[in-house]
Amino acid sequence: MVAMLPMTQAMAQSSFPCLIDPARVAALLGPLSERFTIEALAECSSTSTLLLERAQQGAVSGSLLVADRQTAGRGRRGRHWLSSPAAGLTFSLLWRFSGALARLSGLSLAVGLAVARALEHSGASGVGLKWPNDILLDGGKVGGILIELESSPGGMLAVIGIGLNLQLPPAGEEEFLHPPAALAQTLSPLPDRHCLLAAVLNELAVVLDRFDQVGFSGLRSAWQAHHAWQQRPVRLLDGGRIQGEGLCLGADDDGALLLQTPAGIERCLSGDLSLRVA
Ligand code: BTN
Repeated sequence: MVAMLPMTQAMAQSSFPCLIDPARVAALLGPLSERFTIEALAECSSTSTLLLERAQQGAVSGSLLVADRQTAGRGRRGRHWLSSPAAGLTFSLLWRFSGALARLSGLSLAVGLAVARALEHSGASGVGLKWPNDILLDGGKVGGILIELESSPGGMLAVIGIGLNLQLPPAGEEEFLHPPAALAQTLSPLPDRHCLLAAVLNELAVVLDRFDQVGFSGLRSAWQAHHAWQQRPVRLLDGGRIQGEGLCLGADDDGALLLQTPAGIERCLSGDLSLRVA
């Protein structure tokens, strides 16, 4: 579904033409397009910030905001996310779930699986997943996921923000916790961004339906098959402080990270993971 919406403040302020055409994405999706309401912006502060506001005003499940440029793109843990039309694909999707917050544990891992599958279907090789929600390409970070949850009448809403690097971000502009990677490393020519977005939405529809029915447990083995650091020594960091160290056993049925430590198996619910160099 393509929304014919009035010009928003974000669009009015922009001086760039919008390079994503929602009708083209909808055409690529075919009948599945009925499940999405796609709006493209040339520029906005952050697709997730805008979509959260719209969600609070009653936007329907499946609302999608894609922006060529974000002036205040947000990453996890207060980090910034750089975006420009030639270098990336940045969008946010609103999905509504019935039930309580506990039902949504592992959602970010499920979304990562959908993105990884979409990149593979687009021809990328070397795609992996790092807990909790980084998309890796040959060990570098090619994409990130930011999920924001709120309770809403009758259940929960999730604003799922996804950023993918088509080209490497400019060096030195940001202090990268993880070395960046770009799809251009593995795909030549690069897929058209409309095709890439449609591929991700196709996979998201499948994965989110499964997640809604059975939770992360139904996707766990597929996630684990993509898990780049399975059975490898890792460190769990919290703001630079080491929170735990051990052998990475993957994710539990609820998405918690499992670490084999000398004291036994530990379950970790948040933090930044880094490979521990032997
Ligand atoms: C991370 O830190 O790895 C998550 C990055 C998520 C970035 C995306 S880009 C689209 C959406 N809008 C935002 O402001 N952030 C997310």
